[in-house]
Amino acid sequence: MKIRVGVIFGGESVEHEVSIISAIQAMDKMNLEKYEVIPIYITKDREWYTGDMLKDIDSYQDLDLIKRYCTNVVLFYRNGSYVLQKKNGLLKNVVKEIDIAFPVVHGTNVEDGVLQGYLQTIGIPFVGPNVYGAVAGQDKVIMKDILNGIGVPMTKYVWFYDVDYKDDREEVLKKVNTLKYPIILKPATTGSSVGISVCSNEEELIEGIEDAIQYDTKIVVEEVVKNLKEVNIAVMGSYEHQKVSEIEEVLSGNKFLTYQDKYIGGGKGSKGVKGSKVPVKGSKGMASTNRILPAHLDEKLRKEIEDIAVKSFKALGACGNSRIDFLIDEETNKVYINEINSIPGSLAYYLWEAKDVSFTEVLDEMINIGIKSYKKRMSKTHTFETNILQGFAARGGIKGMKGAKGAKKI
Ligand SMILES: Nc1ncnc2c1ncn2[C@@H]1O[C@H](COP(=O)(O)OP(=O)(O)O)[C@@H](O)[C@H]1O
Ligand SMILES: [Mg+2]
Repeated sequence: MKIRVGVIFGGESVEHEVSIISAIQAMDKMNLEKYEVIPIYITKDREWYTGDMLKDIDSYQDLDLIKRYCTNVVLFYRNGSYVLQKKNGLLKNVVKEIDIAFPVVHGTNVEDGVLQGYLQTIGIPFVGPNVYGAVAGQDKVIMKDILNGIGVPMTKYVWFYDVDYKDDREEVLKKVNTLKYPIILKPATTGSSVGISVCSNEEELIEGIEDAIQYDTKIVVEEVVKNLKEVNIAVMGSYEHQKVSEIEEVLSGNKFLTYQDKYIGGGKGSKGVKGSKVPVKGSKGMASTNRILPAHLDEKLRKEIEDIAVKSFKALGACGNSRIDFLIDEETNKVYINEINSIPGSLAYYLWEAKDVSFTEVLDEMINIGIKSYKKRMSKTHTFETNILQGFAARGGIKGMKGAKGAKKI
């Protein structure tokens, strides 16, 4: 029997459209002899839909058609299976059963652990990082603190909350001014270059902060890497085994890679999703970025990047297929890790293809890793047979509880 794979994509994220592209690319390349592919599309207003037309990019021109012709569903556990069940109507029948979920999602509310939390709560096996790995991969402060802890080379950084800035602006400026200008300001969790600015002086810094705090409560500031060359590598595996892909150099006409550079590329003349600025048709997602593949690097630098990537993948609790991005100062040849993308755009398939691993094989391996991780998780003890609440009830429950000295009586 085929393994029924529920490919989940979309969601309430600025990278919603990019996720649609990545998911369609993936669904198109799955081995249909082994897998039955079930698309599960989360709209921006958090409704879940399934239906075969969701495998076709043209369907996303008009959300009303999806709402009319696809089935609005919920995913949950029922009688020993994971089911997509009709959400509305009198007949809340099962639409599909699913063996494993495959999140192909990018950005906040989905890639960052929020979706993984739901999947873990209902207990369904799934591909990619678990909640902890996903959180560490999205929040740049948590990510940087963990990476700093393992001593991989990074730019100098500081961070603060929006309230810190509102309460004591001078203190925050003082903290940031311990860094050398130019500096780069980033909202900690948004991703996709949203709210990022490069500042050369305090005046620009203030402007940058005012902008960034519109997007996030947590702001990271770091020193800018000069003579910048950006290279990316993918790592596949779990905390047990890892392997690395080819390394690419990404090229940007701008000061730094923008949303436009990353996802829209040269895809002209295409119609977008209704109400969205992002053209879906004609865009190849992350695969459309201008790049040199393999990147021109000497053997020493290549080895250094591979080592840092694997170490970081493990430390961040990544799982599945992540892309790890680096910044290189071409003059000094110094390498800095920039970030991890837990579920990268286009699943970074082009980095594997350059090593003669096909997209179909990448997907296969990701699913296998997902199944293994699920088994591993199930093999660990999570609950105890004893129910301490039984004894608690016998002693009179909450009413019979003696408060700590001085505590309020409940
Ligand atoms: N320290 C830095 N020095 C120079 N350029 C940087 C630095 N950090 C980020 N950038 C540029 O900004 C882009 C976006 O930053 P990144 O941290 O990758 O955020 P996002 O999560 O939005 O992709 C990078 O691709 C790179 O071009
Ligand atoms: Mg990035």
